[in-house]
Amino acid sequence: MAKAIVPATTANLGPGFDALGLALNLYNIFTLEETGSGLEVNVLPEGEVRLPLNERNLAYRAAKRLLDEVGYTSLGLKLTIENDVPMGRGLGSSSTAIVGGLAAANVLAGARLTKDEIFALASEIEGHPDNVGPAIYGGFTICYPTQSGFKAVSYKPSDSLTPVILIPNSTLETKKARGVLPTEVSMTDAVFNIARSSLLASVILEGRADLLHDAMVDRLHQPYRAPLIPGLLDVIREVQSVPNVGIALSGAGPSLICIVEKTNQSRFSELVEGIIKEKQWDYTVKPAEFDLVGVTAS
Ligand code: HSE
Repeated sequence: MAKAIVPATTANLGPGFDALGLALNLYNIFTLEETGSGLEVNVLPEGEVRLPLNERNLAYRAAKRLLDEVGYTSLGLKLTIENDVPMGRGLGSSSTAIVGGLAAANVLAGARLTKDEIFALASEIEGHPDNVGPAIYGGFTICYPTQSGFKAVSYKPSDSLTPVILIPNSTLETKKARGVLPTEVSMTDAVFNIARSSLLASVILEGRADLLHDAMVDRLHQPYRAPLIPGLLDVIREVQSVPNVGIALSGAGPSLICIVEKTNQSRFSELVEGIIKEKQWDYTVKPAEFDLVGVTAS
């Protein structure tokens, strides 16, 4: 039996579209067992999520891909998924499935692939690397394309910073959220994002909370996605008026990720809860932590 525990992730962080991501301390668990024949997929908690319970299951497809790749054959498989990461909310639940399936299958097959090889496969399956990167390596991950596939480096974020997630009571398909993006952008917007994402990397590593607001502003994807998420710009505007806080769409949305000073996390969460209640917005405020380890499998 093989078990993989995979953290949720928040990708983009504003300007780092398809490049930057952070791992969060919410986890999905994937257990893979060999059986005599066929495929059995179980999802827990039962009845709460609707995932395919057959060969179309994403974690199974990832597991099968790795087993085929290393030439490992099994008579049958039982896959159990324990879900704690909200689905369809921009918190990397699909990435947990890809990484969990790959990492559990790797253990079953005798740990033949390294983390870097699992990352290369996971990015290829996902199509972009900024969710699978932090899910695999933990911490703050910078992903970049090379001629031989995506590569990633991971760093420990500053101890003085911590995340607060704003999770709406609605979902958004990543495919739809990518479908509204332009195929070309202006040089001005590209330069704006290069400057802001470079700033963001230094802010996250050094803990410069005073620069978080500027560092998490984006021009390459959020403006195009905003019409898909009613009220998004209002929530961002309200939170941006709080000092020493950065806010951005988490991944393709619709959740929002706020990065705040650790010493200010409770006060900020209460403040935002108050604003949300007053404005009657349908968001849950979730104070969280960064995961520093990434996937663990045994
Ligand atoms: N970078 C991706 C996007 C993350 O924004 O579409 C979502 O998977």
